[in-house]
Amino acid sequence: MHPDQTLPDTRSIAAGWTLHEYPLVDSTNDTARDLPAWQAVRADVQRTGRGRHDRSWVSDKGGLWLSAVVPVGTSEQGWQALPLAAGCAVCEALASLGLPDLRLRWPNDVMVRDRKVAGLLVDQFHPDRAVVGIGVNVTNHPEASDATLRSSATTLSEWLTTTPALQEVATRILERLRRVAGIMHQDGFAAVVPAVNDWWRPGVSMEIETENGCRRGVFNGIDAKGRLRLLHPDGAIFEWAAHQVFRARELNLSNS
Ligand code: BTN
Repeated sequence: MHPDQTLPDTRSIAAGWTLHEYPLVDSTNDTARDLPAWQAVRADVQRTGRGRHDRSWVSDKGGLWLSAVVPVGTSEQGWQALPLAAGCAVCEALASLGLPDLRLRWPNDVMVRDRKVAGLLVDQFHPDRAVVGIGVNVTNHPEASDATLRSSATTLSEWLTTTPALQEVATRILERLRRVAGIMHQDGFAAVVPAVNDWWRPGVSMEIETENGCRRGVFNGIDAKGRLRLLHPDGAIFEWAAHQVFRARELNLSNS
C-alpha cells in the first residue's frame, strides 16, 4: 500500500457486499487484489487508474472508481463470460438511475449514444475470483486531464437532472453484479446471454483485428460461449473469442 493511503472506511451495504472506501489509491483493482469474494473497494481518486489495453484511465474526483471481487469457477468460459455479464450489470444499474440511450460497445464499454460513460477492466490475480474494475464518469471532468476525451466521453451529470451520490451508483452496480453472477453460477452463462445481447446497438458495422488479420462485418451480438459474432458481407457468421480479438472498432462512429 502506498504510504499516503489511509485506512479505509468499511461498511456492509446491500446484497451482501462489504465496501471499503478510500480517499486516494493507485488503482482500486490493485487495492482489491487479495480481498475475498463479495468485497469491494471504492476510491475518490486513483493516482494510476488502469484501462484496457494497458491504457491509463483518468480518475479525477467526482467519478466512481470501484473494484468488486467476484468468485469465478476454474472454467475458461467463466472468465470469458464475466466481463460481458458485468457490462450488462452496469448498464442495468445506470438505466435504473434514469440514464437514457444506454448501450454496450463490444466487449463492455458502456455508452450513452456514441460517448463512453463507463468502462470495465477485469483482472485475474487469483484462480478462483476476479477483480471487476468499474469506472463511471459521474460529475468528474475527464476532458480536463485529456482533451481528446471531450468528444468521446460523457458523464452522468450531463444526462440526469439530479446526479446520484457515488455511493448510490456503487450500490446499484454491486446489486446488479451480484444478481448476474448468481444467475451465471446457478444456470451458466447461456442464461444471461439474452440480457447481454439486449444492450448492443443493432446492425453496427465493425472492424476487428485478429490473429488472422482484419475482418469487417456487422456485429451480431455474442453467442452462448460469449464469442463475438460477426456477419460477413457474404452472409457467413464467424465467432471470435475475446482473446482472439486484439482490437475492435465500430465503423462510421466516433471511437474512444
Ligand atoms: C476501460 O474502458 O479501458 C476500462 C476502464 C476501467 C477503469 C476502472 S476505474 C476502477 C478500476 N481501477 C482501475 O485502475 N481501473 C478500473
